[in-house]
Amino acid sequence: MQRLLITGGCGFIGSALVREFQRRDVEIFVLDNNSYGSRGIIDIDDEHFLFGDILDPARTRDAMRTARPDVVIHLAAIHFIPHCNQYPFESANVNLQGTVNVLDAAREQGGVGKLLFASTAAVYPIADVAVAETHPVGPLDIYGLSKTIGERLCHEFHLATGVPTIVCRFFNAFGPNETNPHLIPEIQRQVLSGSRTLKLGNLDPKRDFIHTYDMATAVTALLDTFDRGYDTFNLGRGEEYSVREIVAAFSRAIGVPIDIEVEAARVRKVERMHLLADITKIQRFTGWKPRISLDEGIATLVTEGV
Ligand SMILES: NC(=O)c1ccc[n+]([C@@H]2O[C@H](COP(=O)([O-])OP(=O)(O)OC[C@H]3O[C@@H](n4cnc5c(N)ncnc54)[C@H](O)[C@@H]3O)[C@@H](O)[C@H]2O)c1
Repeated sequence: MQRLLITGGCGFIGSALVREFQRRDVEIFVLDNNSYGSRGIIDIDDEHFLFGDILDPARTRDAMRTARPDVVIHLAAIHFIPHCNQYPFESANVNLQGTVNVLDAAREQGGVGKLLFASTAAVYPIADVAVAETHPVGPLDIYGLSKTIGERLCHEFHLATGVPTIVCRFFNAFGPNETNPHLIPEIQRQVLSGSRTLKLGNLDPKRDFIHTYDMATAVTALLDTFDRGYDTFNLGRGEEYSVREIVAAFSRAIGVPIDIEVEAARVRKVERMHLLADITKIQRFTGWKPRISLDEGIATLVTEGV
């Protein structure tokens, strides 16, 4: 049986990954400090839940010793961009020093056969086209910059150890168990509280929203297929939706019209208008396809609640 360590496994995407790996013959360990995630959203026993902070190198090494992983998935990070902008040193510290600690502990432990790092679409500059992995990076904020350096650290890890290393650039996730106040959970919150006139900010920016279930199946497909070297893969749905289109999907899901009121305080002054993944590479490499449409995913958010 394969042994897997997921840092940040109690988070939004981590919880979907844990669920997906639980369908397989894998022994899963989770290292998390529950700062954003919560153990309650995953089904894991005490032996496999390793409470700890990746900023603590001794605890991180200790977790690596306990898990003795064949595969490491490194998700733990601070990633809500407004929070990162407000607390740039705190988020840079977790995303950089924390990543150094995880990589160093994996190197020291030895025996790790594959490592996957959660990077982000935020490494890309503003572009009006679908971005492929070959698009030059150009992060706009401290979060994107911290992940760009995280990618480089993973490359150094690969060069030093020879461990096959995958950088996965996640686009915008949606699904159950959201931990951060992103757009879709905010719309979900307002809709479930009974509001039919939503108070929102910018309505026209488009994002590539992918369901966390599809992210989890893509990650397993990558880990199944990738067996040497270091490489980078976009992980999105390959379709983009504006805020208006998301609201329209909620309206279809509840079968009632929904109005929008733009609230000046919610309007971001600097905003990308597009963020769309070219997913040709991951599809060719793994044969993976996203399964859950925006409408299907949103329908479950209103029927199953938060
Ligand atoms: N959600 C998205 O749309 C999205 C998009 C692009 C990239 N990502 C990346 O994917 C990864 C997971 O994102 P998510 O949406 O699940 O976020 P999340 O905040 O729900 O999950 C992060 C997890 O890491 C844990 N964590 C944070 N700091 C830690 C620390 N110092 N030590 C130990 N654990 C710590 C949190 O408690 C949480 O469970 C992150 O690396 C994020 O940058 C997410």
